[in-house]
Amino acid sequence: MINHNLAEIKTYLAENNISAYRLITNTQTFLPVTVDIYQDNAVIHVFEQIEPAIIAELEQGLKTILQVNAFFYKNRSKDTLNIPESPAKNIIQEEYGNNFIINLSDYLDTGLFLDHRETRKWIADQSQNKTILNTFAYSGSFTVFAAKAGALKTFSVDISKVYCEWIKENLALNNLPLENNWVYKMDSLEFFQYAKRKKLIFDIIIIDPPTFSKNKGKSFSIQKDHPRLINGALEVLSPSGFILFSSNYRDFRMADKDLLPCLVTERYNTVPPDFEGTQPHRCFIINKP
Ligand SMILES: C[S@@+](CC[C@H](N)C(=O)[O-])C[C@H]1O[C@@H](n2cnc3c(N)ncnc32)[C@H](O)[C@@H]1O
Repeated sequence: MINHNLAEIKTYLAENNISAYRLITNTQTFLPVTVDIYQDNAVIHVFEQIEPAIIAELEQGLKTILQVNAFFYKNRSKDTLNIPESPAKNIIQEEYGNNFIINLSDYLDTGLFLDHRETRKWIADQSQNKTILNTFAYSGSFTVFAAKAGALKTFSVDISKVYCEWIKENLALNNLPLENNWVYKMDSLEFFQYAKRKKLIFDIIIIDPPTFSKNKGKSFSIQKDHPRLINGALEVLSPSGFILFSSNYRDFRMADKDLLPCLVTERYNTVPPDFEGTQPHRCFIINKP
């Protein structure tokens, strides 16, 4: 399977100098794992208990074919699984000329959502001399792409102190000064109100939220709350600007009738070849009429 999957994406990886990619997606019932490669490291998400012999065979294949020398296991099941211990490790990962701190060991996610690689590149292509707002910014990967591509100013918003620090570290790693790349530890919905009061206007607003989240007892759900988010963003969007809205919620339905006047277009070419056929996310571009 490793050789087969690699053959499908080899040219894409080589032509774009990509060293962080998805190799195996959990679609095979006999191998309930997803494998992401970060240089010579493999992050293995395990969805059900698998035989130690199968894990050993998978590791051996990754070592031989891809020279992987460190393995990081993530339990994606609700049950306790018997999976190997993972060592603590951070690395620097390059993607299209941008650098990111990747935490391979501590969380389920590493700091870079690989399925949005081409979306980040596309945002970079639109960002020169633009003012960018990145909400639900996580480790700030969209922000770094935009800022390195010549954005005038960037604003990154995340509710988590830990992730706000991660954004700052990624900005510093890419020699991007905090003077024109602001980081706000704030609820994204509240930030839209703040921006409106401060008369801030953005050319590009990125909204890529989780499906659900909880903050101070208030719960957020993308299906229920996306009209509030999009309407909040429309109020601080420049007349010629656009919102990139993305969701990985499989049953997501855009509630067009609850939106302020705008034009919504689904963008279909953001899924990279290593995620083909898996529908990892959906992207929408939203403009003012
Ligand atoms: C799915 S990740 C977002 C991925 C990110 N857009 C990217 O491409 O890397 C979820 C992030 O949303 C943040 N978050 C959750 N609820 C939030 C809220 N109400 N306001 C701001 N950030 C929030 C979390 O702290 C986390 O960093």
